[in-house]
Amino acid sequence: MNYLVSVLYIVAFAMFIYGLMGLTGPRTAVRGNYIAAVGMVVAVVAVLVDIRNTDNWILIVAGLAVGVVLGVPPALKTKMTAMPQLVALFNGVGGGTVALIAWAEFLDSDGFTTVHTVPSAPLIIGSLFAAIIGSVSFWGSLVAFTKLQEVLSKKVERGLVAGAKAFQLANIVLAIAAVGIAIHVGLQADSANEPTSAIWIVGLLVAAGVMGLFVVLPIGGADMPVVISLLNALTGLSAAAAGLALNNQAMIVAGMIVGASGSILTNLMAKAMNRSIPAIIFGSFGGNDDAGGAGSATGGTVKATSAADAAIQMAYANQVIVVPGYGLAVAQAQHAVKEMAALLEDKGVEVKYAIHPVAGRMPGHMNVLLAEADVEYEVMKEMDDINGEFSRTDVTIVIGANDVTNPAARLDTSSPIYGMPILNVDQSKSVIVLKRSMSSGYAGIDNPLFTADQTSMLFGDAKKMVGEVAEELKAL
Ligand code: TAP
Repeated sequence: MNYLVSVLYIVAFAMFIYGLMGLTGPRTAVRGNYIAAVGMVVAVVAVLVDIRNTDNWILIVAGLAVGVVLGVPPALKTKMTAMPQLVALFNGVGGGTVALIAWAEFLDSDGFTTVHTVPSAPLIIGSLFAAIIGSVSFWGSLVAFTKLQEVLSKKVERGLVAGAKAFQLANIVLAIAAVGIAIHVGLQADSANEPTSAIWIVGLLVAAGVMGLFVVLPIGGADMPVVISLLNALTGLSAAAAGLALNNQAMIVAGMIVGASGSILTNLMAKAMNRSIPAIIFGSFGGNDDAGGAGSATGGTVKATSAADAAIQMAYANQVIVVPGYGLAVAQAQHAVKEMAALLEDKGVEVKYAIHPVAGRMPGHMNVLLAEADVEYEVMKEMDDINGEFSRTDVTIVIGANDVTNPAARLDTSSPIYGMPILNVDQSKSVIVLKRSMSSGYAGIDNPLFTADQTSMLFGDAKKMVGEVAEELKAL
């Protein structure tokens, strides 16, 4: 049987890695996801085979049932645009589970916190590390969820960002407390069977949990994508540590894969935003709007245009660049955009798509949407590849994007997003911005692009207006 368990684990690990390879490209991503999911089922079966002699089958089946009932409906029903919140929530549950497992490692059979055998050093260190990081990840992810779900008002958000320094000071104290308790518990546990007070472990979990809350609360909107990725990496590392404590290879391997891929993604996203990880955690970025109030653009003149005028402008261009953003996803306008692009191409216009790394609400969001509408990968251009082309582009049409086109990031040193790389849309000869109003994007700041001389605003829902532009193109 042990042999069977080992074989199942190896099959599961191979599927995780093969599935992850699939996630490197939009063509293979869905298949990769399925392969990794089947790998996880194999790993769960391996664990069940491994513990077949347990007396706790009722608890295990009940746990599986609760997981399925709570997990499957939201996964099926949640809209694509709300996926980051769901990911934050699922990630938090993972971190919380790890913290509870670590705590359980210190409980004796009567439920009192003590160390009932002489534990090995990896068990103690792994459990304590998992308890701290799992707890930080659980509470931090819950805050990330509320921020992405926009539960907190912009005013509260700004207050939290403004109080960043106070949160940081509190975090230093909490970190010292958590590590101090961990050392105390670790030393006690190592000195044979001396009981460890339940209060210490609970204190450790509370200190780490409050730290998780305080780390994420003052982080501003524009940094949230990186924060979620970082929390995801932390959950992976804590699971690996718990695996070390439990001597469970599946947890070690799966945890390390999540930890490593999450760390790489965090690094890539931070680079794309021109931010360092410490600057994200210890600074505020994109959550305050001192550089312009939330909900409006700058004080310049706004020029509105119509679908008919937009169609004429684009039909007579040599090259049109489409800049998709979160609003395109909300409106589900990808098929309409593809149709509009096809009509333009029929008229001899070259159409390209400019993809910002954090456009939308999750990494690769725009690529996935456009791929759904069969937009060829060759015309989807990464930011660094397309930025040089804006200055020789006749018309750029921005569809439901805002922050990723904000020239303040390049030009205004007082802007909270100063330094974040953006799509240089403002360098185009002519710009059409399609959105419903003058309201701000995710970072809650003004966008001077909307009032620039070369910009005209096409107000309305992205799908409806792109459809109208397409009708006008047909009539030309
Ligand atoms: P945003 O800056 O969020 O702007 C989206 C714009 O779409 C809004 O200004 C909104 O204006 C418009 N819009 C909404 N619904 C629409 C509809 N039905 N039709 C037309 N327009 C609509 O989006 P972005 O430029 O894609 O930038 C992404 C932002 O999200 C960045 O700040 C990024 O840091 C953050 N973020 C990204 C991620 C990842 S990983 N991609 C994750 C979390 C957060 P109206 O209300 O006026 O229509």
